[in-house]
Amino acid sequence: MRNEIVNLLKKENKLSEKTISEISNIEIDDFSQVIKDLGNEETEHIKKSEILKDLKTDYIGKELYVYREVESTNTVAKFLSMHDVENGTVIISEKQTKAKGRSGKSWESPLGGVWLSIILKPDVDQSKFPMITLATGVAVAKTLEKVGVENPEIKWPNDIMINGKKVCGILTEAIAKFNTVENVIIGVGIDANLEVSQFPEELQSGTTTLKEELKREGNENLLIKIFLEEFEKISELFNHEGYETILKEWRKRSYSIGKIVEVREPFNTYYDGYVVGINKEGALIVEKIDGTLKKVISGECIIKN
Ligand code: BTN
Repeated sequence: MRNEIVNLLKKENKLSEKTISEISNIEIDDFSQVIKDLGNEETEHIKKSEILKDLKTDYIGKELYVYREVESTNTVAKFLSMHDVENGTVIISEKQTKAKGRSGKSWESPLGGVWLSIILKPDVDQSKFPMITLATGVAVAKTLEKVGVENPEIKWPNDIMINGKKVCGILTEAIAKFNTVENVIIGVGIDANLEVSQFPEELQSGTTTLKEELKREGNENLLIKIFLEEFEKISELFNHEGYETILKEWRKRSYSIGKIVEVREPFNTYYDGYVVGINKEGALIVEKIDGTLKKVISGECIIKN
């Protein structure tokens, strides 16, 4: 993380040559204010003032930093989460150069997409962590419905799909201490004003964008504002243990339930099965060919039909 923060400062010419040569001796923590100031500078496409105008949230996005380019908003968020930021702080970047996807994959993040991370300080038991991930998927789906997408669906655990193609990915990272989640970084990437041809060829058949689905350019600032409002509503449910409501909203939009999948669990355990549902821990319940039920907590599920 140290290198990434230093790179960000170097790129923005926030460090003198002298400082760069001395940097190995300097506490990187000293730069947190510089990173915050950088996120308050004027940006060209994503406008902090437009997002904040009439934003109807109490805490999500009240502290907001927007960058022109970072390696990964999740990394900046992780760094800032250790340096005196409010619960609900949001980090946005117009572009990312080394964005992280799930399962160690990279994530394409050109100009035109919505790339953001939210810092939550939920103070809950680690077992509740998957529920935050599911809740975020619901917030994205509701946001897409509000901007005119007819039937966004959620592929377990939290890929958002339109007409069977992925339009949004979510990467949640927890910073835990003594079994309690202290900080959660929720990274959300929405392929908004992009064209599928901008993605590497191997991704194109499984990817879609809002611009292509809605057949028009949308307003990214408005999309972010709606998402932050939806996110706060669902995190309030989470904070008040409204897990059943979150699950109901998730199930209503499920792309996975009722499908035959190949489950790829960590440590190379692969098997096929039929998705029966999700349980109250947020795990996927899969019926194997031999009739036994499996609880999938992490991994990938490849849809086969
Ligand atoms: C996935 O693989 O589906 C998850 C993709 C998550 C991408 C987002 S974009 C904003 C945030 N910063 C990152 O580096 N990753 C997440």
